[in-house]
This record gives sequence, structure tokens and C-alpha cells, in this order.
Amino acid sequence: MTIKPLIILPDPLLRQVSAPIERVDSELNQLVDDMLETMYDAPGIGLAAIQVGVPRRLLVIDVAKEGEERQPLVFINPEIVTSSEERSVYEEGCLSIPDYYAEVERPAAVTVKSIDRSGKEQTVEADGLLATCLQHEIDHLNGVLFIDHISRLKREMVIKRFTKAARSKI
Ligand code: NI
Repeated sequence: MTIKPLIILPDPLLRQVSAPIERVDSELNQLVDDMLETMYDAPGIGLAAIQVGVPRRLLVIDVAKEGEERQPLVFINPEIVTSSEERSVYEEGCLSIPDYYAEVERPAAVTVKSIDRSGKEQTVEADGLLATCLQHEIDHLNGVLFIDHISRLKREMVIKRFTKAARSKI
């Protein structure tokens, strides 16, 4: 397993729409393992493949609390099939936008259909933190970031800050 470098805002890759995965094979499972290791190392609770530079529709999530046993979840070609009317607010962050957090309102519960790492179809009914995390990560597959759900002023400020930081690194 390898820890992969993370793609950071304002890298244009983060705005790319990821393509569906056609085959679940050992190469894909290698990527899944690398993504899990990268997510646990960060540490984070969710990671989309595009965040390690791979524009494919794949996510890993683990919302187990600190000290609890790991509960890695793998979603290949995930699709939200139902969203609740009820909404909830969570403070979100993103491994591609380090050290920035903001409250985001989203549907409180979602049903997500996807394929698991053995190639089987799975349907997950999620609420709470898992529902928010799934929506955040599925957004990544469509080139959408959590800062797209906050005010334009706040979004422009954070993009400016990260653009400046990226420039000063060169
Ligand atoms: Ni993110």
C-alpha cells in the first residue's frame, strides 16, 4: 500500500468530472487500498479518487470514531437515488482544502447505490455524518467542492488564499 500525494485547491483537476469505472479488478483494488491508506494517514473520513489525481468514480469513507474499530467503506460508481426533504448542517472540511472548515446544509439522509470492491451491487441508506460525507465525496466526482455550497464571498476568499499559497510554494 502506498500513501499518495493529495491534490490541493486550486488544482484544476479538482474541477474535472470523473469517468465511470468499467471493471473491478486487482488494479482497482490496489488503488482502493492506496486511497484507504492515504485517507487514514491524512487523517480524513472520506476520499475521492480525483483527490489523488485519478479521475474515476470511486470513493472511500470511514466515519468510525477515534478509538473505534475501522469501518472502511468503498463506493464504485455511486449514485444518489433518494434524498430526504429534511436537511441538516455539518461543519465540513476537505483534504484538498486543508485547515479550512465551514458549515454546509445538505439533505439529512440519502440512499446511495454503488458497486463494492468485489464488484457486487450495494445499496446504502445513510443518515447523520455518513450521509453528509457521501454527498461531499460524490460531489468530488462531479468536480464540485464543499466551498461551492457556501457564500460566494467566503468561497472567493478561500480560493484566493489557496491560490496565493500555491504560488508562494513555487
Ligand atoms: Ni473533500
